[in-house]
Amino acid sequence: MNATQRTILVTSALPYANGPIHLGHLVEYIQTDIWVRFQKMRGHRCSYVCADDAHGTPIMLRAQQEGISPETLIARIGEEHRADFAGFAIDFDNYHSTHSPENRELASLIYNRLREQGHISTRTITQAFDPEKQMFLPDRFIKGECPRCGAADQYGDSCEVCGATYSPSDLKNAVSALSGARPIEKESLHHFFKLGEFSDMLRRWTSGGHLQPEVSNKLNEWFEAGLQEWDISRDAPYFGFEIPGAPGKYFYVWLDAPIGYMASFKAYCARSGLSFDDYWAKDSKAELYHFIGKDIVYFHALFWPAMLEGAGFRTPTAIFAHGFLTVNGQKMSKSRGTFIKARSYLDQLNPEYLRYYFAAKLSSGVDDLDLNLDDFAQRVNADLVGKVVNIASRCAGFISKRFDGRLSANLADAALYQEFTAASEAIAASYEGRDYSRAVREIMALADRANQYIDEKKPWVIAKEAGREAELQAVCSLGLNLFRALITYLKPVLPRTAALAEHFLQCGELQWDSPRTPLLDHAIAPFQALMTRVEAPQVQAMLDASKENLQATAVSDKSAASEPILATISYDDFAKIDLRVARIVAAEAVAEADKLLRLTLDLGGEQRHVFAGIKSAYSAEQLVGKHTLMVANLAPREMRFGVSEGMVLAAGPGGKDIWLLEPHAGAQAGMRIK
Ligand code: 2FM
Ligand code: ZN
Repeated sequence: MNATQRTILVTSALPYANGPIHLGHLVEYIQTDIWVRFQKMRGHRCSYVCADDAHGTPIMLRAQQEGISPETLIARIGEEHRADFAGFAIDFDNYHSTHSPENRELASLIYNRLREQGHISTRTITQAFDPEKQMFLPDRFIKGECPRCGAADQYGDSCEVCGATYSPSDLKNAVSALSGARPIEKESLHHFFKLGEFSDMLRRWTSGGHLQPEVSNKLNEWFEAGLQEWDISRDAPYFGFEIPGAPGKYFYVWLDAPIGYMASFKAYCARSGLSFDDYWAKDSKAELYHFIGKDIVYFHALFWPAMLEGAGFRTPTAIFAHGFLTVNGQKMSKSRGTFIKARSYLDQLNPEYLRYYFAAKLSSGVDDLDLNLDDFAQRVNADLVGKVVNIASRCAGFISKRFDGRLSANLADAALYQEFTAASEAIAASYEGRDYSRAVREIMALADRANQYIDEKKPWVIAKEAGREAELQAVCSLGLNLFRALITYLKPVLPRTAALAEHFLQCGELQWDSPRTPLLDHAIAPFQALMTRVEAPQVQAMLDASKENLQATAVSDKSAASEPILATISYDDFAKIDLRVARIVAAEAVAEADKLLRLTLDLGGEQRHVFAGIKSAYSAEQLVGKHTLMVANLAPREMRFGVSEGMVLAAGPGGKDIWLLEPHAGAQAGMRIK
C-alpha cells in the first residue's frame, strides 16, 4: 500500500424498485462511476455501493395492482436494474436492496440509539384515512378541488393550476384516488425524529465544506424557516420494516433508504473482508461521499448527518449534488419519445457514447444538463471516432504490415510525448473536482495535437519513399503512444473502449500513471475498429421505441410511480356525462394565475365561461375559433377568478405538452358526443 493511498466509500442514490432506470437516472450513475473508476486507477482503495430503494406505499400498491407480493415485485425490478446498470458499465462493488436483513438490523440499531438518546418523540396526529381500503392516505393519493382556485382533480398537497400549497384536509370534495371513497379523518400515534435538537451541529456541518456552495446557501433558507420534527413512522398496511417495540408502525421509506448505503456496504464487507467500522465508526479515517440529485438534498444534508451523529456514527465527507437531465432542451417527455429508458437506449446505441456525452457536459455544480440528440451524435462522431480512435487507425496498419507489429525502440519526438505526460496531473485534478467537462476539453486538446503531428509527418507519404523505414516506424509508434496516453485519460469515461485498446496495445491494464512509461520495442496486436459512428437511424429507432413503450405500458418514472391508480366508475355514472362540441368564441389569460385561461364557449346558441389550466401550452389568440370538447353538465364552480361553467377536455403530461381535444372538422358547436 502506498503512503498516499486513500480509503474511500462512494454511493449513488438508491433508485425506487417500482420503475425502470431511464436516462435521467443515468446522469448520476455515470457521474459517480467515472469518479470511482478514476479513484481506482489512481491506486486508491475505493468502494462503490448502491441498492434498490424497495419500501413505501407506491411499491406496495403497485404489487397489489399486479396481483403479486411486494417481495416478488422488488426482486423482478431489482434484476432489471442490475442488468441496466451492467449495460452502461456502472461497476458497483455491491448492489443491494433496502429490504435486506442488514438494513433491518441497521435501521433498528440507529432508531434504538436515537430513542435511547431522547431524540425520538411520539404524538397523535390526525390524517386522511380511506375507509374502504382501510389505510391512511399519503397526500398524493387524495384528490379534490383546490381550496384557493377551485380547480378540480388536484392532489392533496398542491394545486397544479394556481400553484397553491395546502394540507389535504383543506381540499374540497376530497376523494381517495385508490377507491373513490370520501376520506375520513382518523387519529394515529406517530414517531418523530427531533431534528431541531441537531440545529447547532447541522449549522456547523452544512457550513463546514461538506457541500457545494449553492447547496449550503439553499440550506440556510431552511434553517431560517426552522427545523421541524420529522415524521418517521407510517401505519400498517405499509411495505417496510416494523419499528421495534411499536407493533403496526413501520419506518417511513426515507428513514431506512439512506441506511441502505450502510447495509449495502455491510454486505460487501462480508464478501470482501473490509471492516465496516473502519468506514462508519465515529473516528473513521475513511472518506465517505454521496452522489445525489438536487431534489433530495434535504434528506442527505439534514436528516442523514443528524441521524448518523445521533446514533454515534461518522458523518459524510461530502455530498455531491447534480442537476436534472433535459432532452433537446425540454423536460423528458413521454409523448415526444424523450422519456428514454436505459433499455431502449441499450437496444440501439453503444453505452460509451452516452458516458462520453454526459462527461463532456458535466461540471461540479447543480446546473441541469441537456442531452441534445443532434449534438450528441455530432460530438461523439467528431471527438471519439474522428479524433481519438482515428489516431490509432492512422498508425496501426503500418506497424502491423511493415514492422511485424513491433513499435520502435525510441520516441520520435520526446518533447511532444512529454506534453502528454505533463498534462496528467491537471486532468486528474479536473476529474477529482468532478469537472469532467474540463477534463474532456483538456484531453481533446491533446488529441488535436496528436492528429496535427500525424498530419505534419504524413506517414502515408513516408511509406512510399525508399530508405525511410525507421522514420515511418518511429512516427507511427509515437502516434500509438500518444493514443495510449489519451485512452488512459479517457478510461474512467470509456472503460470498454479502453479494454479493447489494452488488448490492441497488448499493454495490460492501464493505470493513471501508465503513460509515464511509453511502449518501446513492444509488440502490439492487429488493429480492429474500437468504436463505430453514431448513426441517425439508431437515434430515431430509440425515440420511436420510447414512444411505443408509452403505448404498451404505463411507464413509471418518479412522478408516475407515485401517481395513484384511479377509481373505476359505473356505466351509469359515465352515461351521466354530457359531452358536447363547443366553439371557443373568446379567450383571455387570467393574469393572477400561472396556468389559467378564461374561455368563452359557444354551445350552438348558449354561451358558457370556463377556466382551463392550459396557459402553458396555448396563447389566448391561438384558441379563438377552434372547436373543442366540453363536459357541459358539470356543476358550476365558484373559483377565485369567477364561476367556471363546465370543463374542456385536453390531454398531455403538462407544460407545453397539453393538447386541447378537437372534434372532426365536420362537427358543429352544440353537438352531443355519443
Ligand atoms: O429519490 C429517490 O429516487 C430515492 N429513492 C432516493 C433514495 S437515496 C437514499 F437516501 F437512499
Ligand atoms: Zn388552485
